[in-house]
Amino acid sequence: MASATRDHFSSRLGVLAATLGSAVGLGNIWKFPSLVGQNGGASFLVVYLLASLCIGLPLMISDLSLGRAGRSNVISIFQKLAPRTGWWLIGLSAIISCLLILGFYSDVAGWVFAYIFKSATGAVSSTDPAVAQASFSSLLNDGPVSLFWQWLVLLLTGGIIMRGASAGIEKVTRILMPVLFLLLVGVCIRSLTLPGASEGLRFLFMPQWERVDASVIMMAMGLAFFKMSLGMGCMLSSYFKEDVNIPLMATRVMICDLLVSLLAGIAIFPAVFSFGFQPAEGPALLFLTIPAVFASMPGGTFFATLFFILSAIASTGAILSLLEVPVAWLSERFSLPRTKAVPILLAGLVLLGLPATLSTGPALQDVKLFGLTFFDLYDALSSTILMPLSGIVTSLFVGYFWKKEHMLAALGGGMPARLVRTLCRTVTPVLITLVLLHGLGII
Ligand code: PHE
Repeated sequence: MASATRDHFSSRLGVLAATLGSAVGLGNIWKFPSLVGQNGGASFLVVYLLASLCIGLPLMISDLSLGRAGRSNVISIFQKLAPRTGWWLIGLSAIISCLLILGFYSDVAGWVFAYIFKSATGAVSSTDPAVAQASFSSLLNDGPVSLFWQWLVLLLTGGIIMRGASAGIEKVTRILMPVLFLLLVGVCIRSLTLPGASEGLRFLFMPQWERVDASVIMMAMGLAFFKMSLGMGCMLSSYFKEDVNIPLMATRVMICDLLVSLLAGIAIFPAVFSFGFQPAEGPALLFLTIPAVFASMPGGTFFATLFFILSAIASTGAILSLLEVPVAWLSERFSLPRTKAVPILLAGLVLLGLPATLSTGPALQDVKLFGLTFFDLYDALSSTILMPLSGIVTSLFVGYFWKKEHMLAALGGGMPARLVRTLCRTVTPVLITLVLLHGLGII
């Protein structure tokens, strides 16, 4: 992820942890399971896998190598590599996407923080869907409380990024990520041993091809962008030493990220069927089923609290990488110290986040633009439109505009570099364009 100090990462593990810190977050444990649930389970998984391989991976490699070659903020990277052209607009779109994502992501992170306390007090320790639903709804329906948690998240992450302390957080993430992973494995085991668990597994691993249509494909592609933190400059702002093998590193990040998502799916779906939740519940799934699984096991209160603490830390890593993109640009472009750039940004985010947060409760849930609430609009605009658009333009930049020798040099040469270049000239931009146009109903 973006390091506050524009520095090299010291070790290979450091590079992996930092990049994973951005990739692994609420996308894995909140967004992935809810989209899998809403879009037909296994068939969605297959489409997602294809999108990750043909679109996500080449773009992650492109972003990381552009970052290594440009070493600057997202806009000036392109001004440096392609002076006096319009390619810098990729950077502008990246900044807008970051802001939109922060607008709703900080809200969901706020729910996670709130659930640390709800779990610790045992308030959500029940396997009864009605109790779980009531508890989650009471949070969403209480605008001031939801805003309180969102602002707390923004203040906390803003404070960290203002002090340039991301490196410290990366270290924490490096230690705690494996703990989250282990805990997820534990939840999976419990979930799989619940009565009726096999139905959840069948849902997750038996494809329903008739469910796959243009909007499902578009959703899967958007999810790949979101989960791999692509198309919004987070990976562009990473600083890798020359000896880091970018294609290998990106493949590892993709695999680890996928593994965490699959674990989250295996943790959640057997429990969904066993306790009688609705698989298509959507964003609430994480907050309904995970407390129920913990409630059904010994030491549940402790482990549920730990789970939400670790999830809060994972979301903090992702938010830091998102914040770094506009902060780096603001402070470099206007020569502002971070102590000024961060408060300006936070003030903007409080305003931008307000409608998103209030739109998940009674205050604004009936206000719709293009048929979507503010929360869903921010999500759809960023994941399914801006990020794919920026993906198309980035792949064209890497495939056609960037001089072949420079591109191959930035990637360290070799077969993977050539393959990425070929993909960026052909499959990747064409696929994204087709999916985007089809999803928007244009073709
Ligand atoms: N990839 C993060 C997640 O899955 C979210 C994120 C998106 C982070 C975009 C940075 C940029 O939670």
